[in-house]
Amino acid sequence: MCGIVGYNGTKNCAGIIIEGLNKLEYRGYDSAGIAFEEPSGLEVLKAVGRVCNLEKLVKEHKVKSKCAIAHTRWATHGKPCELNSHPHTDCNKEIAVVHNGIIENFAELKTKLSKKGHKFYSETDTEVVAHLIEDALKKEKDFFKAFTSAVKQLKGAYALAAVYEKSPGVICAAKKQSPLVIGQGKGEYFLASDVPAFLNHTNKAIFLEDGDIAQITPQACNIYNIEGVKQKRKVNTIKWNPATAQKGGYKHFMIKEIFDQPQATKDTISTLPPDVKKAFGIAPAVIKKIKGLYIVACGTAYHAALSAKYVVEHFAKLPVEVETASEFKYRSINFQKDWLFVAVSQSGETADTLAALSNAKKAGLKALSICNVIGSTIPRASDYTVYTHCGPEISVASTKAFTSQLAVLYSFALQLAFVQGTITKTVFDKLYKEFLTLPQLIEKTLKDAEEIKRLARKVYKNNSYIFLGRNASFPVALEGALKLKEISYLHAEGFAGGEIKHGPIAIIDKGMPVIALAPKGGLYEKMISSCQEVSARGAKLIVISNTPTKNAVLVPYTNEYLFPVLGVIPLQLLAYYISDMRGREIDRPRNLAKSVTVE
Ligand code: AGP
Repeated sequence: MCGIVGYNGTKNCAGIIIEGLNKLEYRGYDSAGIAFEEPSGLEVLKAVGRVCNLEKLVKEHKVKSKCAIAHTRWATHGKPCELNSHPHTDCNKEIAVVHNGIIENFAELKTKLSKKGHKFYSETDTEVVAHLIEDALKKEKDFFKAFTSAVKQLKGAYALAAVYEKSPGVICAAKKQSPLVIGQGKGEYFLASDVPAFLNHTNKAIFLEDGDIAQITPQACNIYNIEGVKQKRKVNTIKWNPATAQKGGYKHFMIKEIFDQPQATKDTISTLPPDVKKAFGIAPAVIKKIKGLYIVACGTAYHAALSAKYVVEHFAKLPVEVETASEFKYRSINFQKDWLFVAVSQSGETADTLAALSNAKKAGLKALSICNVIGSTIPRASDYTVYTHCGPEISVASTKAFTSQLAVLYSFALQLAFVQGTITKTVFDKLYKEFLTLPQLIEKTLKDAEEIKRLARKVYKNNSYIFLGRNASFPVALEGALKLKEISYLHAEGFAGGEIKHGPIAIIDKGMPVIALAPKGGLYEKMISSCQEVSARGAKLIVISNTPTKNAVLVPYTNEYLFPVLGVIPLQLLAYYISDMRGREIDRPRNLAKSVTVE
């Protein structure tokens, strides 16, 4: 995700733009930039890091402009640096473009444009748009028509805004899959990825739809489709207060990010074709030699790693050792040289994980990292990196990163098994086809949120909760307990279902909530008998299943090794609603940090 902001009107907009970028920092904050019109022509300023660094430049430059576009970046192509930050310009620096999304055919466009003599300076997909407009202007003098012709050549997802020095006072914008909204003021228009950017100035919002292309001047905003047919779009009156609006209308970032999961997994899965070299950057010849995996992580990422152990062992029949990084880094074992080391980390900055990674590298192991922050320390220290594309995760409690990590690890397990010949192409294709339906299945699972809220209301006054799971769902029980613990501060513990009878059942009190994950599969009946054992001792049982089961919350059916991605969602919601009902500070729980960069 990135944040786009634009203004076209009669005021000096420097402050308006910076304020808008600050409101959108939750969409990305590794660098920021602005293109603005001033009497001398088009100027571009960029700064790495938070928006405040750009604000300093804008103040030093004493920017006075009535028409500008700006951007705060969450890197998807190319590491965070000034060269890769937006806006991007054409060869003559007369056109500036900002973009949110992924242009899937940027490589072929870049090759075509380079052959025509265009010079590129960044690693980004966005830069090609500025050169496409420049190229179109050689034939078509009208900026809007040239912009439209450039947009016609794009494949993928985009929210775009562009300005052209020789067409002052005009902003062109286009929207496909990534959000873009226009704020209608009096004699002025605003443009943004999300409403909070301009809500202090107007609450009249026009939400662009896929395929819309807009021409924005201070007096008018005209919207057309790609064929140039004028479109009529509703002017909505936004009733949110600015604080709520920053969370997209949700009460907390955590619940917003739980509901972001369909898009987050869709964006992540879109970068995981059924081709191990394309998806993981690892040649099949290297994959064939892997004899086992060490997977190391912390907290929620550790739970994703632990679930992946079951998936890899089941499909690829390879041994997998999973350990928390804080323990792994002190192990003085003789590493198996033909095993692959895998580090999983949302932030890419967790000190324990980084320490474990460097130990593994020193021992001569190859390392794959699975991270959410492009260009962060852990990927830069790894031999191979695959990113989850779930956008910035603001809430301390990790949710969308977890399901995206599970998706990446599941894809890796299947590709490993297929390339090593442990599963046939027919089986691989069938499993991959099911895997690709995950975003819709998550969407469907989220439709039960109200039912989970009702269950939370029945149990939220309890002070102790037990979570049970087996096989690939046992780590989901641990994750459910962690989610509840870290935002409600209540006692919550996860156990392997088969372990409950070896001691923990002693703590089951009458009315104690026990949340059990019981997917259809080899251990379903055994989990149900564990449920009967705890029910017989008075537990308040909540079952999460993908097959009709008494008193169960039902999630869509998938094989039991993919079930964790769906089974965790009711647990995320339960933790959220219980904590909210107890009045907890959800997004910033006491004692916790989003990224633990100390050992
Ligand atoms: C998860 O909700 C916690 N915030 C925490 O356990 C986190 O998962 C852990 O610190 C690892 O962080 P990372 O994924 O950024 O490495």
